[in-house]
Amino acid sequence: MKQFFITGTSSGIGQSLAKAALANGDLVHGYSRRNNWEQANFYHHTIDFSKPGECTRLRFDVNPAAKEYILINNAGWLGEVKPLAEVSPENMALAQQINFVAPSILSAQFLKQTKGLSQKISILQISSGAAQYAVPGWSSYCSSKAALNMLARSIAAEYPQVRSLAIAPGIVDTPMQSEIRSLNPAHFTEKERFINYHKNGELSSSTAVSEKIMQVIYDKITPPDCVFSLNSL
Ligand SMILES: NC(=O)c1ccc[n+]([C@@H]2O[C@H](COP(=O)([O-])OP(=O)(O)OC[C@H]3O[C@@H](n4cnc5c(N)ncnc54)[C@H](OP(=O)(O)O)[C@@H]3O)[C@@H](O)[C@H]2O)c1
Repeated sequence: MKQFFITGTSSGIGQSLAKAALANGDLVHGYSRRNNWEQANFYHHTIDFSKPGECTRLRFDVNPAAKEYILINNAGWLGEVKPLAEVSPENMALAQQINFVAPSILSAQFLKQTKGLSQKISILQISSGAAQYAVPGWSSYCSSKAALNMLARSIAAEYPQVRSLAIAPGIVDTPMQSEIRSLNPAHFTEKERFINYHKNGELSSSTAVSEKIMQVIYDKITPPDCVFSLNSL
């Protein structure tokens, strides 16, 4: 039995990951602002990752019977979608806090709180293809996800005994994609591209994406690098 600690379990990929782990008979702790579903062996913790103090106070309640402890930093925010000079400084800071600083603090807390335990330790960051290329209007999102990739590489270099991965999940049919399709085209010039992905049925389901991520976690698929795209597997 594995014990998962997954952020952003109230919708989309995080919820599907939690349900896939529960279906495997594992324990799941979920972290988000909304507490909107219940299931046996699922423990929800209400938290707002935009608040640094809430991140530093977080304690991982590890179960000694588990064979592996897995942190998945999945919660994310697209940020204020506008060209850089039009984004408010508050929202710039907020996007970095939610997408990069909170995962850094949680990863550090997880490393500290599991130090010396004999269980296998895994830390997964849910990154994005947008970490590798610029999407106009997404400067906060792209830069925070690029930083997240380097966080995964840094953890891998500093803690070789820990499995550290950053995964770009592809284009996934979640509330975040609905939000992208509803953005103001005056601020987001690539809106049409995302509407067409949806129209042409090119989005993956969050269930399919989560099952593939679980194959990586369960060592059924070996990723080529610690930073990788799910579509490349
Ligand atoms: N969907 C895609 O096509 C796609 C592509 C590439 C990467 N990703 C990445 O995949 C991850 C999951 O995205 P998704 O598409 O599943 O999005 P989603 O459906 O919008 O889910 C986002 C999750 O993050 C949580 N969250 C957001 N802000 C939070 C905060 N301040 N405090 C606590 N929790 C917060 C939300 O919970 P609450 O609102 O309840 O707090 C929600 O559970 C994100 O990191 C995203 O960047 C998605």
